[in-house]
Amino acid sequence: MAHRVFNFNPGPAAMPLEVLKVAQEEMLDYRGTGMSVMEISHRSAEFEDINNTCMALAREIFGLGENYKVLFMTGGASSQFALIPMNFLGDGKTAAYVDTGYWSSKAIKEAQLFGKVHTAASSKADAYAYIPKMSDIKFPGDAAYLHVTSNNTIYGTQYWQFPDAGAVPLICDMSSDIASRKLDFTKFTMIYGGAQKNLGPSGVTLVLIRDDFLAKGKAGLPTMFSYKTYAENNSLYNTPPAYSVYIMKLTFEWIKKQGGLAAVEKVNRAKQAAIYGMIDKYPEFYKGTVKADSRSWMNINMRLPNEELEKKFVSESKAAGFIGLKGHRSVGGIRVSLYNAVSLEAAIKLADFMERFKKTNG
Ligand SMILES: Cc1ncc(COP(=O)(O)O)c(C=O)c1O
Repeated sequence: MAHRVFNFNPGPAAMPLEVLKVAQEEMLDYRGTGMSVMEISHRSAEFEDINNTCMALAREIFGLGENYKVLFMTGGASSQFALIPMNFLGDGKTAAYVDTGYWSSKAIKEAQLFGKVHTAASSKADAYAYIPKMSDIKFPGDAAYLHVTSNNTIYGTQYWQFPDAGAVPLICDMSSDIASRKLDFTKFTMIYGGAQKNLGPSGVTLVLIRDDFLAKGKAGLPTMFSYKTYAENNSLYNTPPAYSVYIMKLTFEWIKKQGGLAAVEKVNRAKQAAIYGMIDKYPEFYKGTVKADSRSWMNINMRLPNEELEKKFVSESKAAGFIGLKGHRSVGGIRVSLYNAVSLEAAIKLADFMERFKKTNG
């Protein structure tokens, strides 16, 4: 058996062991081709099947109809920050953004390159410790779109409700909580995220976009910067990130086998309860940094009484086999990332470690 650690990395992150094993089995000879998926043509019947199956699984898992296109793009969510306004922020129009942290601010900065931006709400003044109340999110009724970030990877906050945008298209950066819970995904006109947290390896960006919105995209853009190019060519206009798409397909199959997003959510609920349980039990030692109603199930941030103890926590947890717990450099502290592939066992073992660490250091 290969040596595997308890991986709490913030992204790229843990992958399901079952997925890695299938990839391993199929590595040298993908279904009788005598080649790995990396070595076959993206125009081959084998890859076309992977591509189409992955798209169909995405629709099935997110409960979306044929009126949504599933696109596989590259450049990460960071490229989407620019592509969205490039395609959809028309002349004289305003795009609305909710500012809930590092990644939404980056999205706003890119949008400002293309047109007017309205900040619909922001929690910046409170160190991004919460998601604004839905009733505090205000935006023009004729905005080109309203953009939200469903999970704030660095600050550890997550939306538990989404704004009713009415006729304004709602766009969501779901990079760090996509496929982690059951939602009504049809509320969103467009959803996007890099695969490297819940959907597989980096390299592919999943985009789910409704047809009527897609049709409104600007004409005259460079071919590779237009969403229409991907939609009209089944995401095969140029050489796609084929291996990443293949692993994403295996990851969707893994989700489906468990019983879909409801089953995934159940496990994620138990995982976060184990870790927040420690924060609630020892609030003077494991100090949560966000408001209770905005707690993320994917990224749990905390501060210890001092930086020395935080360093000790990181090094001792590492020695005990728990990897990736150091907080983001911009906020410090400890961050526990609990993406889908992190097992309940890993979360419970970490909670036990936290209990022991508190007892010897508290
Ligand atoms: C919420 C969120 N949006 C955007 C990004 C940027 O993604 P990428 O590195 O794929 O460009 C990240 C990366 O961690 C993220 O967590």
